[in-house]
Parts: sequence; structure tokens; C-alpha cells
Amino acid sequence: MTRALPALDPPMLDRVGSAQTEMFDARLRRWWPDLSCALAEIYPPQEIAELEADVAEIIARAFARRPAALRRRDLDRLVRPDWFQDPGMLGYAAYTDRFSGTLSALRGRVSYLSELGVQYLHLMPLLTPRPDPNDGGYAVADYRSIRSDLGTVADLADLAADLHRSGISLCVDLVLNHVAREHEWARRARAGDSRYRRAFHVFGDRTVPEEFERTLPEVFPDFAPGNFTFDPDLNGWVWTTFNSWQWDVNWSNSDVFCAYLDIMCFLANVGVDVLRLDAIAFLWKRLGTSSQNQPEVHAIVQALRAAMRIVAPSVLFKAEAIVGPDDLITYLGQGERQGKVSDLAYHNALMVHVWSMLATRDSRLATHALSRFPPAPSSTAWITYVRCHDDIGWAIDDADAAAVGLHGPSHRSFLSDFYSGIHPGSFGRGLVFQHNPETDDRRISGSCASLAGLDAALELPPGAARDREVDLAVARILLVHAIVFAWGGIPVLWSGDELGLRNDPAWADDPVHAADNRWAHRPALPWVPSVLGERAAQRVDPSTVAGSVFGGLRHLARVRARLPQLHAATPFEVLQPPHPGVFAVLRRHTQGDLLAMFNVTEHVVEVAADWLDALHASADFDARQGIDELSWAAMTLDPAGALWLPPYAARWVRVPPAPR
Ligand code: GLC
Repeated sequence: MTRALPALDPPMLDRVGSAQTEMFDARLRRWWPDLSCALAEIYPPQEIAELEADVAEIIARAFARRPAALRRRDLDRLVRPDWFQDPGMLGYAAYTDRFSGTLSALRGRVSYLSELGVQYLHLMPLLTPRPDPNDGGYAVADYRSIRSDLGTVADLADLAADLHRSGISLCVDLVLNHVAREHEWARRARAGDSRYRRAFHVFGDRTVPEEFERTLPEVFPDFAPGNFTFDPDLNGWVWTTFNSWQWDVNWSNSDVFCAYLDIMCFLANVGVDVLRLDAIAFLWKRLGTSSQNQPEVHAIVQALRAAMRIVAPSVLFKAEAIVGPDDLITYLGQGERQGKVSDLAYHNALMVHVWSMLATRDSRLATHALSRFPPAPSSTAWITYVRCHDDIGWAIDDADAAAVGLHGPSHRSFLSDFYSGIHPGSFGRGLVFQHNPETDDRRISGSCASLAGLDAALELPPGAARDREVDLAVARILLVHAIVFAWGGIPVLWSGDELGLRNDPAWADDPVHAADNRWAHRPALPWVPSVLGERAAQRVDPSTVAGSVFGGLRHLARVRARLPQLHAATPFEVLQPPHPGVFAVLRRHTQGDLLAMFNVTEHVVEVAADWLDALHASADFDARQGIDELSWAAMTLDPAGALWLPPYAARWVRVPPAPR
């Protein structure tokens, strides 16, 4: 359906000159129909004309104000639309204060990121939040200013320009499911302004909230039970999915749409390249459902995305939707929405299965679940990761577990026991986050190194046994990263994991953080001597844990960058090697297929000769002719033709295509 283009304000566009006006016009013709159709899916017909006029004005104004350097960036990215799918992409996510102190000090740390190979930096929430507690900044009080201890909007723009010069794209959070109770809209609502009250979901009594509660899950059952909070100023119950001071906004109100669109344009024009759409699954509420993943969420994102493509086509959307596979894939655009919503989404299941494989020393559940995982559309990419700022919820499907002879709830319970260190012999030293006694759901906090066995190793007395355990922990850290680096998409390192930092022993000292043990794995980087030691300085010393991990990750990133097989759009299949300790993925490419194989155990395991023969016969992949790109070594086989993988080994085997 082609919908009428909006009437534009010529004086506003005249200011940008005729070449720019032509560009705007071309983009408008291309994307307005998507925008307009999506708005019509969400808002009542009688509101559409006025809403479209408002939207047209917001985007024309933002386009006119877009700085010249960012217009140039738009052009560069339009001629290379797969820039974010490139295997050279490596991400890094950090809290600014914990990484460098301030935004301007971060400019002095860009070389550290480049040393690692980083091309994408996700800075955790930095817009002005409510005073503590604020969920690490996810309770925004003002979207137009920066947390005062971090710097100013001008500092962010300067940092973005520096990052761009160093080939690094900047991602920031856009929290669009809720605002802080102290945000202007909430303040005005509390002061009795009915227009602002309509920006939230407010109920006079518990009747409707209770109907909703019947089907709503609880996100933070420990410290924020329930999904509604009574607010005395409102004299009503306001929807608060997360904490009582994070008020869910009402997206069925088109004023909310326009306000967020304007905020997006503002961030784009400061130089932000990727907007992380926080908690996007929760945007639309519907009685009788979980009020997650509702179809309107995708219509909203389509409208916002189309608008941003007109204003700032270099800007991408990243969906933060920690939901099951069938729902997750819809955030990357399915059916009519293909190519119209988010470009990036977190591959939560891969992360969960990586840790599950390490605990069980068995790849069968991961192989089953990940081989039936819907592929990402070819114009999109996964964010792959082993840790992030959040806890790990054991998102393992009961049917997947049953298919490999496991009982879903028992397996999830085992993983919680294992990674909280109470399972006998476990190497994991995480912390239980949000124990839900009704479901026995126990999520886990902890840094990569602590989950991978470094703390457990260091509990041993000094000596050979301890050294061996430390080596195994380092091998696990590198293995889990080698798996997610081999997936295609953007692997994102969580700050501190590149140095093998363990859980912060002082995380609970800050009374504001004491109830939320996710702070255990959000350490400050040890640039200066601290309780964590001078790990950052040790990164160049391979005899240290920090040096082995940093060097190992940098090596993975460098090898990855030159393998076209790891482009996000390369098709792949998860294979079923005969030994349950081996996880394997085959990626198909005209420049030679790539077989990634991983030993998820601390034992030497066999990749049997007949399986390699069968792979040759069925997939035309002769591993024996391959080169392991990680060690640059040919395959060494035993006399029977089998391949043996050392403990926790990763092999990225490429077979060059036969000459034609
Ligand atoms: C996202 C964030 C999480 C936060 C929540 C509420 O899930 O990753 O840290 O608590 O949104 O904003």
C-alpha cells in the first residue's frame, strides 16, 4: 500500500540546500509508506492525520539539524549496508564510570579498545537517571542530558567523533519501556496533569491490575514483587514491570511515540550509531497475556525504524528481548516485517547453552536446541556473548531438554546448583540472583572467569594442582569465547572479562547495590592498583591470567576478522559429532567452508574417522585437507584417520575450495 507523503515544511528544508532536500525526499518516498502503515496498525484512524504531521515535522527538523560529519557517515554506511555483519566486528560493553571514570577520560582509553580489536562499543546507561537506586541507570529522569559525573552531551559527541575516527561504532541504551518516577512526565502526572497521567498505565483500584497479574511473570520477584505500585500522588496503581520507581509508559498514547522519536533523533545527531532498545518485549500490554512480544511492539519498532532511516540511515536498532527463540526471531523481522525492524538482537540461547555444555561436558542439548533455532534474516546479525551486565536465566526449553532425555526443570536446577558452586565438584562460583520459591527459578550472577572456574582454582593451595586448575579455567574462558566468536554476528565482550576479572568481592559494600548481586560482575577496571590487582597492566604478560585471556581473545578477534565464513549472513548448520563432548558448526562459503569444532570437556576426545568420512561424503567437507585457522596448523590425524581434540580445544578448520 502506498500512502500519501506528508506535506513538508519547505522553509525548514530550504536551510539544508537542494542536494540534501533531494536526499530527504528520496528517503521519504522510500520509507514513509512503512512508517505510515505501521502507525495505522497502532493508533486510531481519527488520530492519524495529526500524528503524521507531527512525525513529519520531527523528522524534517532532525534531518535539517544532522551534523555534516554524520551525514557523511550515513552515506558511507548506505554504500556498505553490511558493515555490522562483517567478521571484523568485535564489541565491548562497559559502564563508563567503571571503565574510565568519565566520557572525556574514555577518549584516552580508545587505544586500549583498539588494541583488543574492538569496533563497537556499548556504553551502559549514561543519560541522567533518578538518584539512587536507579537500576544501573535504567531509570531515566532526563533523556536530554548526561549523568553529571560522566560529563555532558558535548563530551558524548566528542567521544563519538573520536570513536568514529578509530573505526568504532557507538551503541547506547534507549530505555523506552519505562521512565523514572522523577522524569518530567511522571512528575506532571503526579501533580495531577491528566495529559501526563495518560502517558502511563494508571488504575484507580486493584481490579484491573489483579486481572493482569494472573498472567504476568515477575521480573524481580526478590526486590520488586508484583507489576503494579500504588502511588499516593497519583492516588492509583501504576504499572511498574521492573522496580516501583520505573514507570512503564503507555505506548498506545501517540504523544509517547512522538516524544521517543524525538529522543532517538537527538541521540542519533549526537553521533550514536546503535540504539539498544531496552526491554523492548514489554512495550505493549494486553489482558490475558504475559504482555510481552505483542504484535504492536513490532509495529512501533517498524515506525521508529522507518523514521530513523529517513533522518539518519546509518543508525541501527538492537533489540534487547530476552525471550524464547520463536518470539526472539520476530524482533529481527519476519514475514512482512523482514528488514523493517531491528538489525541486531541478543542471542541469549547461545549464551545459556554454552554454559550448559561446560557444566554437563555434553553438547547434545545445545546441538538439538541450536540446530532448530530459527536463522537470523540475512540482513541482520546476532549479538553473541558469554556474559553481559545482567544475570543468566536458564532459558532452556522443556521440549528441547526432553528430546535429549533431560527433564527441563531438573536441568535448570542443576545449572543453578552448578554455577552457584553447590553442586559437588563444580568449578562455578556465581551467586544466586532472584530465587523464585514458587518455581525454584534461580538465575545466576558472576563474571566469566568466576563461572569458568578461576575462583575455584584459586581456592586450592599453591602448587601443581592449583596451576592446572587455573590453566583449565583460562582454557574454558577462551573456549566459550571461541564458540560465540565463531557464530557470526557481533561478539560482545563484557568489560573485565577480557582480563579474566573475577567477581568483585566488594560489590555489596555500596548499600545501594547490596540487594542486587549483578554488581558482583560489574567490576571497575583496575587501571590503578586496587583490590583486584594491576590486571590491566598484566594484559601484555602471557604468564598471567590477564595476559593469557587478553592475548587469547585478541588472537580470536584477529583470526575472525579475516574469515569471510564468519560474516553474519553466511549460512551454517549445527552438526552432530558422535562424541557428546564435541560441539560442531559448519559454515558454508564460496571461499571454502569452515568447520568450527569445540571440545567442551577437560578430557581428550575423539572425532571419529567414520564421522569425518561421512561429513566428506554428505557435505563435501574433507576435514583432513583442512587448516585450523586458529593455530595455522594442518589437521593431524591418528593412524585410523580420527582426530583428537585436547581438553577445551577450539578448532576453526577451513578447507580451501577446489581449484576450478
Ligand atoms: C534490561 C536491562 C536490565 C534492566 C532492565 C530494566 O533488561 O538489561 O539491566 O534491569 O532492562 O530496564
